[in-house]
Amino acid sequence: MSKVQSSKSQTEEKQAPSDTAQAAASDRGPWTLDFGLERKIVDFGLRVTDLRKSFSSPGGERIEVLRGVSFSATAGECVAIMGSSGAGKSTLLHLLGGFEAADHGTIVAGDFPIDVAKRSALARFRNNRVGFIFQFHHLLPDLTAAENVGLPLMIARTHRSEAIRRASQALEAIGLGSRVSHLVGHLSGGEQQRVAVCRALITRPQLVLADEPTGNLDTAIGDDIARSLIAYAHDNRAVVMVATHNRGLAEICQRILSLRDGRLFDV
Ligand SMILES: Nc1ncnc2c1ncn2[C@@H]1O[C@H](COP(=O)(O)OP(=O)(O)OP(=O)(O)O)[C@@H](O)[C@H]1O
Ligand SMILES: [Mg+2]
Repeated sequence: MSKVQSSKSQTEEKQAPSDTAQAAASDRGPWTLDFGLERKIVDFGLRVTDLRKSFSSPGGERIEVLRGVSFSATAGECVAIMGSSGAGKSTLLHLLGGFEAADHGTIVAGDFPIDVAKRSALARFRNNRVGFIFQFHHLLPDLTAAENVGLPLMIARTHRSEAIRRASQALEAIGLGSRVSHLVGHLSGGEQQRVAVCRALITRPQLVLADEPTGNLDTAIGDDIARSLIAYAHDNRAVVMVATHNRGLAEICQRILSLRDGRLFDV
């Protein structure tokens, strides 16, 4: 049985860029997070086959982190990846988003072959289709919340004033309307994490990779973010992959995969 909470009709084909977002302007979620570009909604799946990745340690020996990871995720699905610290969760998400190259294996996201794509096509794919919420959010502390959220739009050549306008709407939709012009370095951890969620989703990506999106957050906000991501996957026919140590968060996802000894197991 689906545990998804939908925030709007799944049959809707298009969504205007977000005057509707204003309606959800609340400090508590779940929030409607599809505040990005107008986009035709199409089913988007992820297929991963025999992924391997190793690193060399300073002593010269190889650390085999992923030793043959295979799985698929279907459109609308939110999948949790659990595993002890150092198991390779962040490594896997970095490979899935094309931020690092695998040693072996294939990754097909939608109809895009991430593992063999040329650098420029990969950069375009990442900017348009992938939203990454980093484990340590990687926001720019000396920019405002709206500037941080608007950056992916500016990189995609949206005019700065339009990018800031849309970023401000997104922040409003996630309950941070009063923090739009604050420097990110002056925001609380929970507020920063919500800014990071907005930045990841502002382009309305179809693959969302969330690395401990609720780490260090109070449980209520963490739960709100998780439920919002689950609804986002469902409403946008997207795939959301969430690496987490938080069992409660994992259990509200449709599926839990466990990463152990370099391989993924269904839980
Ligand atoms: N660039 C790198 N060079 C060398 N070793 C690396 C590199 N990146 C990751 N590793 C090693 O790979 C292993 C997996 O790291 P990873 O960050 O993927 O774990 P994780 O499951 O995300 O852990 P955590 O739950 O603590 O975030 C670790 O032992 C780490 O030290
Ligand atoms: Mg990690």
